[in-house]
Amino acid sequence: MFNLILFGPPGSGKGTQSEKLIAKFSLKHLSTGDILRSEIRNGTALGLEAKSLMDQGQLVPDAVVIGMIRSSLEHNPDARGFLFDGFPRTNAQANALDALLAEKNTSINIVLALQVSKSELVKRLLNRGLTSGRTDDVNESIIGSRIEEYERKTAAVADHYKKVHKVVYISGEGTVEEIFQKLCDEIEEKLKSKK
Ligand code: AP5
Repeated sequence: MFNLILFGPPGSGKGTQSEKLIAKFSLKHLSTGDILRSEIRNGTALGLEAKSLMDQGQLVPDAVVIGMIRSSLEHNPDARGFLFDGFPRTNAQANALDALLAEKNTSINIVLALQVSKSELVKRLLNRGLTSGRTDDVNESIIGSRIEEYERKTAAVADHYKKVHKVVYISGEGTVEEIFQKLCDEIEEKLKSKK
């Protein structure tokens, strides 16, 4: 199995690049943000609980998202590997993910961390908010809260994987194709060293 985490702040391009990477490397895409938005659309109890936090740019409780990932892993026993997008976002989530993957006799192979300046993040998200219908993109104050949550709780998750030398930083500024190429180069390098 080959498992990767696409890491980075809100608006850094995780979703955009994930779509391209899963197609190229035949990985199963697990985006906690997408799963939560689907729960909201379906009007589930979980969706209702998550919505008010997401609308304020705050993280959903660890137990909720860990449960979602556990269930997604169980429902995809034949996956060649997973691309985690927007997860893990806290150290508790990172520890839980390590344990869940260990149960499947696998682990994270690489963490690709996208780096984008704050002004570019805000610009991208405000721009998407004009058309996306995403309630957390609509104003700068909510976008600011999402970036603060990232800085306070999520940025440190990279340290968890740095200890085991799995993090590679990539500039997330430039064209989508340029960034995709850099991500592919890192993955291919890692796949070669696995053989
Ligand atoms: P989530 O859905 O994970 O959103 P996010 O991390 O805020 O990320 P975004 O989807 O906004 O950005 P992205 O990095 O994927 O960039 P994208 O490719 O979309 O989380 C939403 C909420 O759910 C959280 O706030 C939290 O409440 C909750 N949640 C989710 N996971 C959780 C967890 N694990 N624990 C607790 N709570 C959780 O690109 C953004 C825009 O930029 C797009 O318009 C795109 O077209 C554009 N763009 C992309 N690349 C480029 C480029 N190279 N140049 C110019 N524009 C670009």
